Amino acid sequence: MRHLMSPLDFTTEELDRLFDLANDMERHMDKYAHVCDGKKLATCFYEPSTRTRLSFEAAMLNLGGKVLGFSDAGSSSASKGESVADTIRVISCYADICAMRHPKEGAPMVAASRSNIPVINAGDGGHQHPTQTLTDLLTIRSLKGRLDNLTIGLCGDLKFGRTVHSLIHALSRYENIRFLFISPEELRVPDYMTDMLKEKGIGYTEVIRLEDCIGDLDLLYMTRVQRERFFNEEDYVRLKDFYILDKDKLALAQKDMLILHPLPRVNEISVEVDDDPRAVYFKQAQYGVYVRMALIYTLLGLENS
Ligand code: CP
Repeated sequence: MRHLMSPLDFTTEELDRLFDLANDMERHMDKYAHVCDGKKLATCFYEPSTRTRLSFEAAMLNLGGKVLGFSDAGSSSASKGESVADTIRVISCYADICAMRHPKEGAPMVAASRSNIPVINAGDGGHQHPTQTLTDLLTIRSLKGRLDNLTIGLCGDLKFGRTVHSLIHALSRYENIRFLFISPEELRVPDYMTDMLKEKGIGYTEVIRLEDCIGDLDLLYMTRVQRERFFNEEDYVRLKDFYILDKDKLALAQKDMLILHPLPRVNEISVEVDDDPRAVYFKQAQYGVYVRMALIYTLLGLENS
């Protein structure tokens, strides 16, 4: 039995196979419409979500399976003090696979250690968001045609952003990747991440102004400043609109630069940018369904059935 806690749980060869499968599922939905007949996915979400939970559910329904679960801790027995370890043992009696989001770093890992079914980390605190990373990688590979030889700008909350941390880890395994970290001083990428890049000899530059580097980028990964990760409302208010990507800034970018965003968006991308062909964040959300279909299929071991 296999779980997914980090994007590094799959080798790059396994990721290639997963993405090939996701692309095949996108092209031939009918072929996979009944592969999960009789199977159930549990979505255990202790934190709010639109995309991750609903794309997991859409993915399982597209495969012919069924879904059950809860969308906030308050409506589960966690509100009565039940531990994640006990909850997953019970969920294992009801479902074949589980996607879990939790505000505490490591909670899905605890669940995996006690589970009789595959557990997928659907986001744990400010730590990791591996299925968002699979979505991001599939989007980049499908639209750019490669995952190597890229200059990638990550902009916004690089300190608390779990999507950013997972993506940096995942992309650092490909050849000739260069990162530009664009953030205010207070939201810089953590030292343990830059230490990891130094150890691997991967180039990165930290900048404050998006205008100063947008012209160099093959990809711009925008992120939201996350109110829920701040201890202090004043700091949040001061930083929340630090970056706003608008048409004027986009005019400085390359003609084929892609703009990704894990969403939800608040103010960091002006809606006037949405119609620009480089803005692919809604397409990215669609890729999230295909890659989660491929992931469920793979973790249930259906490729050999
Ligand atoms: N990208 C993402 O995780 O979105 P949700 O919080 O809506 O699931």
